[in-house]
Amino acid sequence: MPTPDAESGLARLINLTINEAPAQLPDSAPLLPALRDRLGLTGAKVGCGEGACGACTVLVDGEPVRSCQRTAGSVAGRAITTIEGLAGSGTGPAGRRHGTPGAEDGLHPVQRAFAEEYAAQCGYCTPGMVLATVAMLAGDPEPAAGPSDRAIDAALAGQICRCGSYPRIRRAVHRAAFPVGVRAAAGDGLPANTDAGGAGPEAPCDGPDADRWGPPLPGGPQYRPQRPWDLTPAADRDWFGVLGDGLVVAADPPPPDPAVFTTATTGWLHLRADGLVTGFTGKVDVGQDNRTALRLLIAEEMGVPLARVRLAMGDTDLCPFDRGTFGSRSMPDAGAVLRATAAYARTALPVAAGERRVAFVTGEPELADPAKWRLAGQPHQPPGSTAAVTGARRFVSDLSAPGMWHGAVLRPPVPGAILRSLDTAALAGRAGVIIVQAADLAGAVAQDQATAAAAVAELATGADWDVPQAPSDDQIAEFLRANPSDGGSGRWGRPFESQTGSAATALESAAVRCEATYTTAYIAPAALETRTAVAVWDSDRRLTVWTGTQTPFPVRAQVADALSVDEADVRIIVPATGGGFGGKHAAGIATEAAILARQAGRPVRVAWSRAEEFTVGTLRPAAVIDVAAGISADGRLSGWSFMNINAGAAGISTPYQVTDQRLAYRPARSPLPQASYRALAATANNFARESMIDELAHMSGADPVGFRLRNLADERLAAVLRAVAEHIGYEPGRDPVPGFGVGIACGLEKDGRVVTAAQVSIGAGRQVKVTGLVTGYECGAIVNPATVTSQIEGATVMALGGAMYEAIRFTGGAVSNAGFSAYRVPRMADVPPVQVILIDRPDLPSAGAGEAPMIAVAPAIGAAIFDATGVRLRSLPLTSDGQLPSNLP
Ligand code: FES
Ligand code: FES
Repeated sequence: MPTPDAESGLARLINLTINEAPAQLPDSAPLLPALRDRLGLTGAKVGCGEGACGACTVLVDGEPVRSCQRTAGSVAGRAITTIEGLAGSGTGPAGRRHGTPGAEDGLHPVQRAFAEEYAAQCGYCTPGMVLATVAMLAGDPEPAAGPSDRAIDAALAGQICRCGSYPRIRRAVHRAAFPVGVRAAAGDGLPANTDAGGAGPEAPCDGPDADRWGPPLPGGPQYRPQRPWDLTPAADRDWFGVLGDGLVVAADPPPPDPAVFTTATTGWLHLRADGLVTGFTGKVDVGQDNRTALRLLIAEEMGVPLARVRLAMGDTDLCPFDRGTFGSRSMPDAGAVLRATAAYARTALPVAAGERRVAFVTGEPELADPAKWRLAGQPHQPPGSTAAVTGARRFVSDLSAPGMWHGAVLRPPVPGAILRSLDTAALAGRAGVIIVQAADLAGAVAQDQATAAAAVAELATGADWDVPQAPSDDQIAEFLRANPSDGGSGRWGRPFESQTGSAATALESAAVRCEATYTTAYIAPAALETRTAVAVWDSDRRLTVWTGTQTPFPVRAQVADALSVDEADVRIIVPATGGGFGGKHAAGIATEAAILARQAGRPVRVAWSRAEEFTVGTLRPAAVIDVAAGISADGRLSGWSFMNINAGAAGISTPYQVTDQRLAYRPARSPLPQASYRALAATANNFARESMIDELAHMSGADPVGFRLRNLADERLAAVLRAVAEHIGYEPGRDPVPGFGVGIACGLEKDGRVVTAAQVSIGAGRQVKVTGLVTGYECGAIVNPATVTSQIEGATVMALGGAMYEAIRFTGGAVSNAGFSAYRVPRMADVPPVQVILIDRPDLPSAGAGEAPMIAVAPAIGAAIFDATGVRLRSLPLTSDGQLPSNLP
C-alpha cells in the first residue's frame, strides 16, 4: 500500500527494488535526483537533463533507461540496477558466459573489461557506458559471434564521452564479450602499471580502488593549517600536521623573473620512514592523468617504486602556488620542479622513524638521464580504473555536506544584459526558499535543486533587463571585423603585430599567390560534468569550496576578492572532475556557491545546468583570419601575411621558412562570453595556416607533403611528417578516387610537433564520413606513453567535433542550441579508428600532450574533403551536421 512521504507529508510513497533491495520513493519524484540525493546512489550522473547524453543511465528490468527522463512512479514494481549494484546483479550475457559476476575482484565482467582497457579518462561517462554495454550484450542476438563495431556504435549512440575515449570503449565492449580472445587481439599492448620496483606489501597508491590520494571531503575529517602553506613563510609552515613524522623536502625559490612565463616554481615532498612519498603540486587532474606522469618523475628521481609515490593536487591550503593547469604546462613546470625536488630528496635520505626534518633544495640537483629512465618512458596506466567503473569515484557533483542545500542563480536573457530591477514579492516568505540578492548576483537556495531552479524561474518573471544589441551567428564575421577592441587586461592580450622583411613586397612579386579568409565558429568545451561547487563556511568564518576548477589558486584570489575576505581564509579543493578542456578556469561557480552559502547560513551546492554551460560558460572564440601567401618559382614560400581577428595569437607563428612575413592579432568585442579552450586559438590559426599551405601546394602543382617538407623550418616537425606519411603509405600524385580523399596537416604548438592524416568518404546526400585518423606526435622525452597516447586519442576525437559539427548558434546574442540534443558533439559512430604514432626524443625536454594534438585535425579533414571533391572549405565547422554545404558545386 502506498504510504505518505515523511519529508513532504503529501506525496505518495511507492515501493521499488533497487539493486535487489527494497526502497521507497515518492511516486512523482524525478528518478535521477531521487537516486542521487535521497539514496546516495551517485553512480548515475547528471550530464544534460534532457535524455541526450546517457550519463544517467540505469537498468530497469535489464533495459537501459535514462533516469533523468523518468519518475520513480514510472518504474514502480520493476527491478532497477545502478552501477553500484551491478557486480552482484548477474545481469547480462557476459556474466552468463564467463562465470559469476562479482568474482574474486568483485566486478561484473563488463566493469572488468572497461577497467582492463582503461576505457576512461575523467570517468564521468563510465557508469552509463558500462550499464548500456551490459544491456547491449544481454540483447545480443548472436552472442557466439559477438557484437560488430556497427552494433556497438548503434547501441551506445546515446552515450556521450566528451573525453573522446570511444576507441577504447569499443575495445572494452569487445573484451567484455570475449575477454580472453580480445585481450590478445585488440589490446593496445600496454602493460598495466608496470613498475620495476614492484608495489610491495603496502601499495597505498595503486591498489584497485585507490583512485588517488583523495582530497578531504565535505563533512569528513580535514587537516587545515592556520594559513595556507603557500601564503606562509616556509620556516613557519606546519609541514607535519597533515602527514605526521618524516622528512620534508621543499623547492621554495624566490619569485621568478616576471618576464619568464611559468605556472609553477615551487613544490614539496613528504617522505615517511616506511618509504611512502607524498608529492604536493598545485596542478590538478581533471581526467588527463598528469598525475601518473608527475608521480613517475618523482619515483624515477628518488629511485623508489611508482606504487610508493602519491600526489596531493589542487588543495590551496596544502599545495604550492600554481597559476593553473593549462597550456600543457604540467610537464615543463610542475614536472621540472618535482623532478628537482625528488632528486634533491634522494640525497637527503634516509628518513629515521620519529624524525621531523625539513630540507630545502639548494643548487641544481643532478637529474636522471631520460635515456636511462627505468620507470618513466614506459607506459603506466592511471590508477583508479576500478573506482571509475564501479561508481566509487566521487566527482564534485557527487559531494554533499551535512545540512547542505542547493543554489540556483538568475541569468540574463543574453550575455551582457544588465538587471534594471527585480521584483521578488511573489517569493517573499515562501517556505523552504531563501532568496538571495547580492551585488552581482540574484538567486535562490532551497532544499533540493529542482525547488531552487523553480524559484529562480519565478524570479525571472519579475526581472527587467537592459538588453544589448547583438548579432546572430550568420553576422559574426562582419561584426567582429567592425568591432575591434583593445583586448582589455585579460588573458586575450593586446593587439599584436610582428613584421619581418616586407610581406607586401614579396607577395607582389610571387610566382603563385593566394588570398583567403578562414573562419571558425564559437564552440563549447562542454565537459560532461557541468561546473559545480560546494561551499561551506566554518564557524570561524573560513570558507572551503570544493569545485572542479583548473585554476584553484587564481579562483581562491577571485573568490576572496568577490566576498571581501582575506585570501588566507579561503580554501579551494579540487576533487575528481568530469573534464575541463580549458573551460573550467573562471571563479564564477565558486563565487556563486560561496555567496549563496554565506547568505543562506548553511552549506550550498551550485551545479550549472547544461543550458547554463552553453550560455553562461565561456566558449572558444570565433575567429576571422585573413591570409595572403605567395611562393616563388622554385616552390618556396616567399611572402606570408596572417591576421587573426578575435580568437587570439596562440599558434600564430609559422613553422615554415619564410623571410617576408607579417603576423597580426586584432582583438574584437565578442558578443558571447569567450575564454580559454583546449589549445586556444591554435585550433583556428593552425586551421587557417595549414589550409592555406594545402591551397598553395595545389595551386603550384606540388604534392602537399613534398611542399611542406620543402618549406618546413623545423626539422623535428619534418621528421613527424615523414613518419606519418610513411605510416599511411602516402603516394604523391596518386590518381584521385571519386568520393574518397586523404588529407594531411602539420602543427607546432607548445613545443609539441603534430601531424594528422585524415581519410574521408563522401556518401549519398553529400554526407562526409571521416573513416580514419592517424596522428603522429613528438613532445621531447615522453614521460608516460600511456597517458600521451590517451591524450592524443581524446584530443583527436574532440577536434573531430570542432572540425565537422560543433558550432554555437545564436540569434541576437541568444544561444539557440544550448543542449546536447541540439549541439552535436562526436558520438561513438562518428569516430573512426584513431592511430597514434609517438616519436620519443629522450634528448629533449618534455612538453605536454593535451592540446597540440588538437590542432592538425581540422585542416587535415578539410584537405581530405578537397582531395575527394575539389571543394575547398574555409569555415569551421566544415559541414552542416555532417553534410557538405548545399551552396557548393
Ligand atoms: S541523458 Fe540523462 S543526464 Fe543526460
Ligand atoms: S571519460 Fe568519458 S566523459 Fe570523461
